[in-house]
Amino acid sequence: MCGLTNKWALVTGASRGIGRAYSILLASKKCNLVIVARNKDDLEELQKLVVKKFTVKCYIIKCDLSKQNAANEIFEQVQILNLEMNILISNAGIGCYGIFGEMPIDRQKDMMIINTYNPVVLTHKFINQAKNSGTQYYIVHIGSIVGYKALPGSSVYNASKSFIMSFVKSLNIELSSKWNNISAVVVSPGATRSDFFRDANKAIPKINKMFMMSAEDVALIGFRAMLKRKTSVICGFRNKLLVLLMKLIPIKLIAKSPFRK
Ligand SMILES: NC(=O)c1ccc[n+]([C@@H]2O[C@H](COP(=O)([O-])OP(=O)(O)OC[C@H]3O[C@@H](n4cnc5c(N)ncnc54)[C@H](OP(=O)(O)O)[C@@H]3O)[C@@H](O)[C@H]2O)c1
Repeated sequence: MCGLTNKWALVTGASRGIGRAYSILLASKKCNLVIVARNKDDLEELQKLVVKKFTVKCYIIKCDLSKQNAANEIFEQVQILNLEMNILISNAGIGCYGIFGEMPIDRQKDMMIINTYNPVVLTHKFINQAKNSGTQYYIVHIGSIVGYKALPGSSVYNASKSFIMSFVKSLNIELSSKWNNISAVVVSPGATRSDFFRDANKAIPKINKMFMMSAEDVALIGFRAMLKRKTSVICGFRNKLLVLLMKLIPIKLIAKSPFRK
């Protein structure tokens, strides 16, 4: 894609954190936006900001992605608006921490739908509107470094991020052989400053707080990887090192480390 001017990006989880940072970054490149989340006030505040600061177009879709039909509803709205999306940033995600058998299943079920089911349906819908066109389309999924390792205490969350990673890695090969104008990348941040841990009711270990990345840095790394049509990217040197260590250190030892407390 030569320049993003007049292109359209659909960003889920745009009301705050990494999704908001992505939206501002894309708008700064003159890309128009469809921003999705539940909190309409936050979305309207973002809409005002990008329209005023970057003179782009921006539509809001208020949607709860824990509902099974959410991805269908989003694309119905996009059709009503008569828009064609060039970029999909599938970012919305929640976490859930604790002993699996001791936690209520409801939040874990929501998490599976938000983190895996709806991203897959959104991707399918996006590919089907893009596959017969000659122009470049980009799919970005936000994974996590924890997707590289099964860990006690966040079993379903880690599994959801492993799922997305595996999905994108095979998808990108299918895309390059079948529809080379579409590429997909999974972006894996480590601990990032946002409301994520607060919403997941999880205290952040002091040692992790010191090394947290900003949402803006995560968005920029993911954006650059997207333009290079990479399949996956781990955000930053420290997180690359952590992934390497996680691969080398047995799961039982990691579970006892101060990073997990
Ligand atoms: N922060 C980290 O340390 C970290 C590390 C690795 C990976 N990640 C991943 O990065 C992504 C973004 O997280 P973040 O750190 O930016 O977290 P965040 O600040 O908590 O933002 C989460 C976003 O997802 C939206 N969202 C949550 N539940 C939703 C629902 N049911 N329906 C629609 N939208 C929903 C929220 O909007 P509303 O509440 O307005 O709906 C918000 O915009 C997630 O996929 C997360 O797993 C985060």
